[in-house]
Amino acid sequence: MIRIPVALGPRGYDVVVGRGILAGEAVAGAPFLPPHRPVERAFVVSDPRVARAWLGPAEAGLLAAGVGGVVHLPIPEGEQAKSLQVVEALCRQLAVQEAHRDDLVVALGGGVAGDVAGFAAATYMRGVPFLQVPTTLTAQVDAAIGGKTGVNLPEGKNLVGAFHQPVGVVADVLTLVTLPEREFRSGLAEVAKVALVFGGDLLEALERDPGPLLAREPGALEEAVARCVRAKAEVVAADERDEGRRLVLNYGHTLGHALERLDAFAGRTHGEGVAVGMAFAARLAEATGVAGPGLVSRHARLLASLGLPGGGPLPAADDVLRAFRMDKKYRGGARFVLLAEAGSAVVVPEVPEGVLRSVREERGAGRAGPVDTGGGDPAGEGSER
Ligand SMILES: NC(=O)c1ccc[n+]([C@@H]2O[C@H](COP(=O)([O-])OP(=O)(O)OC[C@H]3O[C@@H](n4cnc5c(N)ncnc54)[C@H](O)[C@@H]3O)[C@@H](O)[C@H]2O)c1
Ligand SMILES: [Zn+2]
Repeated sequence: MIRIPVALGPRGYDVVVGRGILAGEAVAGAPFLPPHRPVERAFVVSDPRVARAWLGPAEAGLLAAGVGGVVHLPIPEGEQAKSLQVVEALCRQLAVQEAHRDDLVVALGGGVAGDVAGFAAATYMRGVPFLQVPTTLTAQVDAAIGGKTGVNLPEGKNLVGAFHQPVGVVADVLTLVTLPEREFRSGLAEVAKVALVFGGDLLEALERDPGPLLAREPGALEEAVARCVRAKAEVVAADERDEGRRLVLNYGHTLGHALERLDAFAGRTHGEGVAVGMAFAARLAEATGVAGPGLVSRHARLLASLGLPGGGPLPAADDVLRAFRMDKKYRGGARFVLLAEAGSAVVVPEVPEGVLRSVREERGAGRAGPVDTGGGDPAGEGSER
């Protein structure tokens, strides 16, 4: 079991990463439970799929930790659960059950459960304690850490939210065995992101042999998740409210988000969009001289070895640029995180549209890229959802 502190002073907490810790050690050790008073009840928010697989062990762990009772609050599965209606339903459930500040809201599931349960916990009674129990790779390495919570509006993703740090994060990598392959690969894109942005042991391990991780060997999972958590914890501690350093975690996300917004490309998972976005960012970095030669091919090799798309059709240049312009941070050119080399990220505030257009055109509209997209089929076939 690996314990990684997120150093945020009074709002600090530990992320515990391990194998089989959900029903046992981590929760029973209860490092995150307030020491001075018992938790009366835990309200566990999860969708039916996650509840079927993991509610039992989570409940056992919470009860063993001395929590008085466990109440399951179901939410729908998928991104549509990130809505104000679902937050309202959760808060009303909490009110009906007379939940109060000595109780605990627990998010059991992927980033969706974390974001929606976290936002309910941030706002119900102006804030109640909240525990993250991430069960997707994306949530274990990214979404569950850092305190960003929120929901979508019809007008856009994550437009309503709050910072609300959890009291702890319990990342049991054994929960990842039931994750559909495509969801798992989507999480691998965030792992690749951390590896490329921070370099070091993680990148080296992935480049040497991604086999154990792809096979979801528990030891490999634990190591990769812990390395990503350390990187995220460091960045969050330096920039809790996303005003600077945290930006580097957006690597690959400028184009990734644009792709997600364009309906014709909506068949991609978030991670697939991010993979394409990182490959694009590498080409931008070489084209602008931010990076020397070799970065593009390094990206292509890494992404291909993880079964992620590094290429594939891109939308028309005008559509991509229009999507960039909708970005909150757009100022006459799109803001990009680029790499001078692996492990060395720089934020370029305004990449001019002309450069974006020419890099976009390099490969000709709509033509597939040089990378074998393998299991990360961007067209949406083969989805296990
Ligand atoms: N708050 C943040 O900092 C942050 C960061 C990154 C992403 N996010 C958000 O996270 C969301 C994406 O999260 P996600 O990729 O985890 O998707 P998700 O939460 O929708 O989960 C994906 C699917 O996997 C299923 N699932 C989850 N765990 C499982 C398990 N162990 N076994 C079997 N099935 C399982 C779920 O039922 C769901 O169908 C997005 O809404 C995104 O905006 C938030
Ligand atoms: Zn992401």
